Formats: sequence, structure tokens, C-alpha cells
Amino acid sequence: MQLTWTSVEEYFDDLFMEHDEILHEILKSSHNAELPPINLAPNQGKMLNFFVQMMGAKKILEIGTLGGYSAIWMGRALPDDGKLITLELVQRYADVAEANIHLAGLANKVQVVVGSASDTLPTLADEAPFDFIFIDADKPSNPLYFDWAMKYARVGTIIVLDNVVRDGEVTNSNSKDERVHGVQRVSQMIADEPRVEAFALQTVGSKGYDGFTMMRVVR
Ligand code: DHB
Ligand code: MG
Repeated sequence: MQLTWTSVEEYFDDLFMEHDEILHEILKSSHNAELPPINLAPNQGKMLNFFVQMMGAKKILEIGTLGGYSAIWMGRALPDDGKLITLELVQRYADVAEANIHLAGLANKVQVVVGSASDTLPTLADEAPFDFIFIDADKPSNPLYFDWAMKYARVGTIIVLDNVVRDGEVTNSNSKDERVHGVQRVSQMIADEPRVEAFALQTVGSKGYDGFTMMRVVR
């Protein structure tokens, strides 16, 4: 099915996605720097941009920067006085992201914070609450990241979690993969969290079969 998913994505991208030289350059520089090709697909980036615009978010927290591709999609939807803080463990990835963010003209709105998110998240209390939070980092730490997202949320905050399906592995209760356990554990936490209304959406496309869990903080 992968070939069909990719060609359908191309069909709609050709129709709906304008050629964007900056995003093209950003993916090229991430590729040249040998970053893992685990950035969002363009239509997924556009979806995050759409959410940020739709809710009028002014403050965004992203956990997992990689080359800054998703940060740039979200940052573009911010108003002039908006701010996005994105957390990255790997200095080399953060350097690539900084350059990409600069190229995108977003250096004044997007701040990359380098270090283990378990160390940097506690330093962000003065920036909270965030309107929109995107969690897309190492999957075993999803439970920790969700805890911090809830600390830094307000009523109305939207939280989006990437890679919750992973080819359907999420339903494998015998999985030995710590990444799958991270998704399974955070999913149970979300289910047990009375402050959020959540749903999961499966996706197929150039990035394979995966999905997002999305939630709104309601109390
Ligand atoms: C992986 C991580 C991601 O965030 C993603 O979108 C796809 C793959 C990974 O670690 O393999
Ligand atoms: Mg991801």
C-alpha cells in the first residue's frame, strides 16, 4: 500500500501545496547534514499551521526540534508578538534547526533550547501557559512530556502527540519496544486524565502508517 499512499499524497500535494523554496531548502540542508528523515510530511506541517492559525495561538511549545521543519510550519502561523519554544537534545540537530529557522525569517519568534527536555522543561515555568503544545521527541519519554505539557497548559490548550500508531504496533501488548511502551503508557495517562478530551487519528502517506493523538484541555 505504501506506493499508493505516496502517490495519493503527491496527487493532493500537487494540487494544494504551493512550491515553497524555503521549506525545500530546509529539507535539503537537513538531508545534507544527515539528520534522520523523520520530519513531518508537508501536509502534516500544514495541518499544524492550520491548527495554530485556527486557535489564534500566541505561545507554542514543541518537544523535539530535529531540523526545525515542524517549528517553521507552526512559527509561520504565529502573530508578530507570538513565540515558539522548541526543545532539542542533540546540539548538532539544534545547529541545523537554528540555521533553518534563520533562513525562514523566524529567528525573532522561534527559540531553540538545547539539552535533555527532562532538564530544560523545568526551566520554562515563566513561559507558561502555552496555547499549543506539540510532542514529537523520543517516544519512551512521552509520559514525562505529557506530564509537563499538562503543567504548562491552560483551559483551551491544544496538545498534539506524533507517532502514536507506528504501523499498528500500538495495539501489540507483547511489544518489547520501549518506544511502543512509551506510546501505550502515555495513551493510558491521557485516558485517565480528567482535564483533557482526546482522540487519535490514524494517518497514511509518504511517512508510512502512523497517527496523531490530539487533545484539548477542558478544565
Ligand atoms: C521516529 C520519530 C518520529 O518523531 C517520527 O515522526 C518518525 C520516526 C523514529 O524515532 O523512528
Ligand atoms: Mg514524529
